[in-house]
Amino acid sequence: MLTNKSLIAPSDFTLEEIEELLALSERVIESPARYADACKGKLLASLFYEPSTRTKFSFDAAMLRLGGSTLGFSDPNTSSTAKGETIADSARTVGKYADVIVVRHPKEGTAKLMSRYADCPVINAGDGGHHHPTQTLTDLLTIRHYKGDFGGLTVGVCGDLKFGRTIHSLVTCLARYQNVRFLFISPEELNMPAFVKEELIAKGVPFTETADLEGSISQLDVLYMSRVQRERFISEEEYLRLKDFFILTADKMRLARQDMIVMHPLPRINEIATEVDADPRAAYFEQVKFGMYVRMALIMKLLGAGEPQD
Ligand code: NCD
Repeated sequence: MLTNKSLIAPSDFTLEEIEELLALSERVIESPARYADACKGKLLASLFYEPSTRTKFSFDAAMLRLGGSTLGFSDPNTSSTAKGETIADSARTVGKYADVIVVRHPKEGTAKLMSRYADCPVINAGDGGHHHPTQTLTDLLTIRHYKGDFGGLTVGVCGDLKFGRTIHSLVTCLARYQNVRFLFISPEELNMPAFVKEELIAKGVPFTETADLEGSISQLDVLYMSRVQRERFISEEEYLRLKDFFILTADKMRLARQDMIVMHPLPRINEIATEVDADPRAAYFEQVKFGMYVRMALIMKLLGAGEPQD
């Protein structure tokens, strides 16, 4: 039962609940008009303490397409945060106005903290370099669309595995499915953090670490690219040294299987050459669309909105 739950990390939902959400997303994709009033009269508050294009707009679009309304900020300097209000007090306050809160914050743990104080469910839209569970739901819906199932996949995640919160959420979630295998492709400085690797080891999920994209690409069913997370670096010099470590080009795509898909949470900086966009295996802009539908399903479930009657 998802009603009134908060979503901080993918592990907050059971695989059955995730299945329920993906199934509802697919029904919404089939006939979006049926759901046009599903959240009528409900209010979604989005508090973005960090920049966003897709996550913010897809939540807004999702709520509006369900007949609900939205309010919030994307610049914390326009809120009482600028006066020194604590996260706990902001959560207590906004939770009195809204039916659901979506929060993105540079500090790990902020969404969890808010969920303790708000009177309504809180959705983590990214907490520092930690988790980004709604991107994972987006990614799962995308993988399901192209691959049918999650079991048995070989998934390569490439780029900034250290700070990439979408990667931490996706890998720990996919690890719960049968026979998934990972290739972690990164420069050593941006290796997958221990909290993710320890979870895989505990579950007996196989993974290999490498810095060789060209040598690994032919093994993959899914290649998940990511940008180097500039804002999480202490040293700009270090960022500049690592930012173009991997660039996926048409030449490298020639080494990949015909049925491999390329995903990316976006924004893309340099890590996928624009020439790859025309490749039928490039799934990243379709992925964007799935993000809105899965958020429609998520909002409906958390708010306990019933399936519309025809
Ligand atoms: C990601 C994020 O914010 O973590 N963006 C997104 O929500 N699609 C990825 C990124 O910023 O690199």
